[in-house]
Amino acid sequence: MAVLKIARLGNPILRRVAQPVDLEQLNGDPENELQKFIDDLIDTMHDEGGVGIAAPQVGRSQQIVIAEYVGNERYPDQENIPLSVLINPVITRYGTGTLSFWEGCLSLNDLRGLVTRPDAVTVEAFDRTGQPVTIEASGFFAVVLQHEIDHLHGKVFIDRMTDFSRLAYYEEFQEYWLEEASQPAEI
Ligand code: NI
Repeated sequence: MAVLKIARLGNPILRRVAQPVDLEQLNGDPENELQKFIDDLIDTMHDEGGVGIAAPQVGRSQQIVIAEYVGNERYPDQENIPLSVLINPVITRYGTGTLSFWEGCLSLNDLRGLVTRPDAVTVEAFDRTGQPVTIEASGFFAVVLQHEIDHLHGKVFIDRMTDFSRLAYYEEFQEYWLEEASQPAEI
């Protein structure tokens, strides 16, 4: 159990394409190095209060993302996301609609920006035991998955923005944009 240091914008690792995980490295032994790293990644996400995290955000350029959201008063309108550990995830289908959401990111910790993305995705990946999984996600979950998988391709949410008048520091977001926005989340 360990909380890892978050790489912030400007750290070149956030701009690198992450390497696929060799599934052989996942052998189920909890003392296995990669399994321990996955536990640390989950701990770090919890400690930072994020709803998702990607391995490059803690300085490891491998294709691993985590997502989890358990409803609370802070984001009352969002659906829950079960703890999901996704290895080598690939988006194989996009929804035909779009969804605009004020996103935040642990690597851009004080910023919020309005990002428009496809409203649904299908993701093919492997779980932490190396078994293939397929996730059909829509709404908030689809946003979180796209945001995290972007990190594996060297992209951050501001790269997806089309209107920079909707980029704000958190305090200004609260003051000027909260009423018209859906709730932001650190992803
Ligand atoms: Ni992020």
